[in-house]
Amino acid sequence: MYQNRFVLILGIETSCDDTGVALYDSARRSLVSHAVHSQAAMHQAYGGVVPELASRDHIRRLVPLTRKVLGNIKTIDGIGYTEGPGLAGALLVGASFAHGLAMSLGVPAVGIHHLEGHLLSPLLASRPPEFPFVALLVSGGHTQLMRVDGVGRYELLGDTQDDAAGEAFDKTAQLLGLGYPGGPALSQLAERGAPGRYRLPRPMIGAGLDFSFSGLKTAVLTVLRNENPGHADLARAFVDAIVEVLVAKCARALETTGLTRLVVAGGVGANRQLRAGLDAQGTRRGFDVFYPEPELCTDNGAMIALAASFRLEAGMKKHDFSVKPRWDLTG
Ligand code: KG4
Ligand code: ZN
Repeated sequence: MYQNRFVLILGIETSCDDTGVALYDSARRSLVSHAVHSQAAMHQAYGGVVPELASRDHIRRLVPLTRKVLGNIKTIDGIGYTEGPGLAGALLVGASFAHGLAMSLGVPAVGIHHLEGHLLSPLLASRPPEFPFVALLVSGGHTQLMRVDGVGRYELLGDTQDDAAGEAFDKTAQLLGLGYPGGPALSQLAERGAPGRYRLPRPMIGAGLDFSFSGLKTAVLTVLRNENPGHADLARAFVDAIVEVLVAKCARALETTGLTRLVVAGGVGANRQLRAGLDAQGTRRGFDVFYPEPELCTDNGAMIALAASFRLEAGMKKHDFSVKPRWDLTG
């Protein structure tokens, strides 16, 4: 039968505004099923995530989502849950649920770093990357470049000094009246815009592997105040600027490390212009770009189940009940 002791792993993600549950089969190396409930519509009226509402909604969603994912399956071998970073209350809901279920089933529950989940999520794709690779993590809360030599072997190469890429998308979208979270809407609007109508800065593009995006948002605000710009053209200028910076930094990280594989993960990894920019640069410079399946770019339980399966196989012991709202992956 199976060689692995931990075959069916349930993954639970509740760090922010998505409730994600998934079942991963580590023997077949495939997802059995996964389900996500997005709270975006609920938070939209407030222009951002309201932590208390997020926690309460995770409580409502976890049991039905888990029932749906498990179907007729009665036994699992372990549970992974997002231990951090994220909203404390939201994390506590997932941790409590995971530990309660694990205790009742007599299986281990292990806490997983949310960014490790994102980093490893391309391994669930039909064309998974081999180690080592450079990972670009671009989510609502993080923008990092990481060298990944294997599971648990992460070296931080670059980080944002202020806003994350997704945050810059969301704040700029809000300035343009596109609602929350505005990343996808801003990206769509930009596709209708003419290039080159507005010249926005490319912060920190010249040197190093760190990022800074708050100035870009301020530059958009300045254009909005001083001119009467076409919103699609301004959206295009913003997307062109942020994509150019992200692509340049990825190319530099690959050059510095001498690696030839780039993995892109996190919500902004779903962005079409970013993918086109990275693919074009990859063809030009001879590196290979790997993405998670589009639906696994944003927060989900599948990436947490996958990370947990690696951690359990590597001998990670049953975990104490804890959450870490702030937590460095490489610290
Ligand atoms: O990884 P994620 O689901 O959550 C965090 O861990 O933060 O990322 C969410 C972020 C949001 O800022 C959202 O606007 C952005 O990803 N996003 C996009 C796109 N899809 C999601 N940004 C630009 N273009 C997209 N297509
Ligand atoms: Zn995330």
